[in-house]
Amino acid sequence: MFSAELFQQIQNETFVDAVEYHEALPSTNSRALELVAQGQLGGRCTLVLADQQTAGRGRGANRWWSAEGGLTFSLLVDSHALGLPVNRWPLVSLTTGLAVCEAIDPFLGPYSETTLLKWPNDVYFQGRKLSGILVEGADHRMGALVIGIGVNVNNSYAAAPADLGQKAVALCDVLHEKLDRGEVLTQIVRQLELRLRLLADGQNDLRPLWRERCLLTGRTVRIETHSGEVTGLCRGIDRDGTLLVDTGAGCQRIVSGVVSSFE
Ligand code: BTN
Repeated sequence: MFSAELFQQIQNETFVDAVEYHEALPSTNSRALELVAQGQLGGRCTLVLADQQTAGRGRGANRWWSAEGGLTFSLLVDSHALGLPVNRWPLVSLTTGLAVCEAIDPFLGPYSETTLLKWPNDVYFQGRKLSGILVEGADHRMGALVIGIGVNVNNSYAAAPADLGQKAVALCDVLHEKLDRGEVLTQIVRQLELRLRLLADGQNDLRPLWRERCLLTGRTVRIETHSGEVTGLCRGIDRDGTLLVDTGAGCQRIVSGVVSSFE
């Protein structure tokens, strides 16, 4: 359970001005979008948190599987208040992924490996998905941006069907103990605020940090894009957030797409 003290602490220490907590909710992103539709931005940032989501959404046709013990929340950010121009919104997904990696790594202290970024919106550890991110630009004029984050914390995959258990992992599976979800939440919100401020500032090149953590670099990737399938050797992430793929007939810049396989 999450406590009122935790919410107070998050509001005291970060850019979160309001917290909306639900024991169960179909999707925290959908709830945040509802707030935008009602014109309720609620300050610089509103945290919408659900103890459990019943219909979590992912990119495209993806669903976010939420069992008890997962961490699912959305941040409804007033990007005007943050000074983040709309033309930098496409970088928010990678920036969020980076912040989630940086916040989670200290919990994985006993391991020498770090978390990695699977372009454009997943966080992986030891080849399995640990976190998924869904960024939705809700209203350009209002500057409302919804950043949805799901992290597998105490929702163990140990007893999940084999196909799922090979693809995803929870922190408790890696560490063999349960974590305080409130602590994970606080670290992510802190780190995300820091990174979003740097992105807004525009002075800091986050590219080396993405590059270091790119899971796909050097691997053969297959990506579904608007204009068809692209297969080739991944050459990393460029400064504008595009994925560079060497198809053999030249290097293609992938602005958006779904990575259907990588090896
Ligand atoms: C993906 O895997 O494609 C992204 C998954 C994003 C899941 C999070 S959980 C909190 C927020 N609410 C949602 O409905 N989705 C995001």
